[in-house]
Amino acid sequence: MSKRVYIESYGCQMNFSDSEIVASILAKDGYVTTDKAEDADLVLLNTCSIREKAEYTVLQRINEMNALKARKKGLKVGVLGCMAERMREDLLEKKKVVDLVVGPDAYRSLPDLLAEVDGGQKAVNVLLSREETYGEIEPVRLVSNGITAFVTIMRGCDNMCAFCVVPFTRGRERSRDPHTIVDECRQLVTQGYKEVTLLGQNVDSYRWNIDGRGTVKDPAQPVIDFADLLAMVAEVSPTLRVRYSTSHPKDMTDKVLEVMARYPNICKYIHLPVQSGSSAVLERMNRGYTREWYLERVASIRRHMPDCAISTDIISGFCGETEEDHLQTLSLIGSVGYDMAFMFKYSERPKTLAARKYPDDVPEVVKGRRLQEIIDLQKRMSHQRNTIQVGLQQEVLIEGVSKRSMEHMYGRNGQNAVVIVPRWNQGVELHRGQYASVRILSGTAGSLQGELTSFTLSPELDDQHAA
Ligand code: 5AD
Ligand code: SF4
Repeated sequence: MSKRVYIESYGCQMNFSDSEIVASILAKDGYVTTDKAEDADLVLLNTCSIREKAEYTVLQRINEMNALKARKKGLKVGVLGCMAERMREDLLEKKKVVDLVVGPDAYRSLPDLLAEVDGGQKAVNVLLSREETYGEIEPVRLVSNGITAFVTIMRGCDNMCAFCVVPFTRGRERSRDPHTIVDECRQLVTQGYKEVTLLGQNVDSYRWNIDGRGTVKDPAQPVIDFADLLAMVAEVSPTLRVRYSTSHPKDMTDKVLEVMARYPNICKYIHLPVQSGSSAVLERMNRGYTREWYLERVASIRRHMPDCAISTDIISGFCGETEEDHLQTLSLIGSVGYDMAFMFKYSERPKTLAARKYPDDVPEVVKGRRLQEIIDLQKRMSHQRNTIQVGLQQEVLIEGVSKRSMEHMYGRNGQNAVVIVPRWNQGVELHRGQYASVRILSGTAGSLQGELTSFTLSPELDDQHAA
């Protein structure tokens, strides 16, 4: 009988995507996945270190595993991902329940490490790599709805933002072979997928066939940058939607914007983290751009694609942030008019530039109050952005039945906004994976509501229709 593995993922999309690679590596070692920890022989927690709170949640979860282990003799527990990298042997020593600790670049060694664990030892591998991209590994789609999938195009980060733990947990930047990326996308299309999201910590620095010093590795092959890759993926199929995340304001080129504008199947949506609206804070954050540079990048997006949605990440209360800096962040939110934002209180992370260089001197209550002001303003902006969509005709990719009502389906428009539409239309039911033409009737801060004007049937339904 095959062994069963339960994988729980925390943190960013990259982590969820990594779990699918882990599932694939373990499948070759005789493991099938289960969605219940109680049924598993092996529990893996794929963890995140980005803020202290994220780590705290996982440490609680590790404690809960004690109870499960007491009930299930022989159960093995492993910690993967960023916390594995950051806390290493500490985890094995302090948390007796943990048998296995594996960092983001060491998943290929999982079968060997598990053999050590079976032999009664604890096992650890947190080596970071300059080459590992898991390029040719075909992920086992775990969280997928069968419609949308993540495809990792690069790993690691060379940016060294002062607040960020990622360069320490995920190592140096490296790009995946574009041919394996395109092959994976083709495969997804054959399997019926309708949307891919290309993932990287900083997609704009994707480079293939060129080394860190700018030297071409193989003169017989072309150099491929992110704009080229985006075009290659868009060419896979006109009915495959293409998204990507995350852009970096200092590296986002007009060439990428031109490619986005040229292909109708590349979604008009950019996640462009600003972090702060104050140039002084951005400088301390080591972000490599000013407020003015950022606003110019936004203007360029709007020049190329007037209807492009923009979302962002914002940190409140970074080291030395004054009330004036905070007001600058609020004013920037107002001028950009973000469709959506992820907003956080600054959380000091060990080893980072900020932890070594600057005191974490904004009091917790001030961080909280500023964050709330940012959230309140952004909520108003999101509502405004959604209200101006009313009356527009949009293409919505239907993803499933609405969580609030069985009578409605939900999907996303090209700008990544959630759109709710009636499930039944003149006696015909909408299905997951269909593209629907929708007229927007109303909008709240969180979603849009619309009515169906027409929809394309998926091929198999077309057959049924014909029969
Ligand atoms: N504290 C708070 N937020 C952080 N982020 C990254 N590091 C920290 C930190 N130490 C946020 C940034 C980043 C997003 C993924 O998480 O906004 O863009
Ligand atoms: Fe992802 Fe960063 Fe969290 Fe690691 S620390 S899981 S890279 S968000």
